[in-house]
Amino acid sequence: MMKKIITSLLSMVIILGLAACGNSASQSAKPSTEETNESKVEGNKVLVVYFSATNTTKGVAEYIANGLNADIYEIVPKDSYTEADLDYNDDNSRSTMEMNDPDARPAISGSVKNMEQYTTVFIGYPIWWGEAPRIINTFVESYDFSGKTIVPFCTSGGSGMGSSATNLEELTSGAKWLSGRRLNGSDSQDTVMEWVNSLGLKFES
Ligand SMILES: Cc1cc2nc3c(=O)[nH]c(=O)nc-3n(C[C@H](O)[C@H](O)[C@H](O)COP(=O)(O)O)c2cc1C
Repeated sequence: MMKKIITSLLSMVIILGLAACGNSASQSAKPSTEETNESKVEGNKVLVVYFSATNTTKGVAEYIANGLNADIYEIVPKDSYTEADLDYNDDNSRSTMEMNDPDARPAISGSVKNMEQYTTVFIGYPIWWGEAPRIINTFVESYDFSGKTIVPFCTSGGSGMGSSATNLEELTSGAKWLSGRRLNGSDSQDTVMEWVNSLGLKFES
């Protein structure tokens, strides 16, 4: 009788033990599924890049990044632009000379970490003489954008994007450039996000 009780207790322990094993096996399977999901999310990340000499484009870039919960990267010139550098009435100012030279490539301080994780990159800049500042050329030539979607945007004193974005597009290869948008520094976050949402982009961040 005693032997029978011990035997059945033992078999219960074994069954419970197996059940527990089964549990831990299914639990250990879960993190690996999550890892897969996580890497999928990482592969669809958005980066909002901007250059802003007087903070107008910066405000719009922040609206987009906040609205999408995306990463943001400021293009910081190695030599920052002084007020004199930005004087478009002066033929000899730094900005005038750079814009008169299509090959000018002002140096950037720092770089984007792990650009490969982003599939969509917004690129924002002020219009200078109807174009993107040459430092944007430096930026787009510094990375491999193939397979990525690029969304240009700009602010200006009144000019539209003109051919600024199509000229930048020529400096990249294999990227899908969407038609961009000029925004006003005074546009609200809602106005900015209405445009962003109208692009119908599918991304997770
Ligand atoms: C060197 C220079 C050239 C500019 N050229 C133009 C232009 O061609 N058309 C225009 O509408 N605004 C022009 N602007 C005005 C800027 O595009 C506008 O103030 C912009 O919103 C500034 O953005 P930021 O504050 O992000 O630098 C120019 C400004 C500078 C400094």
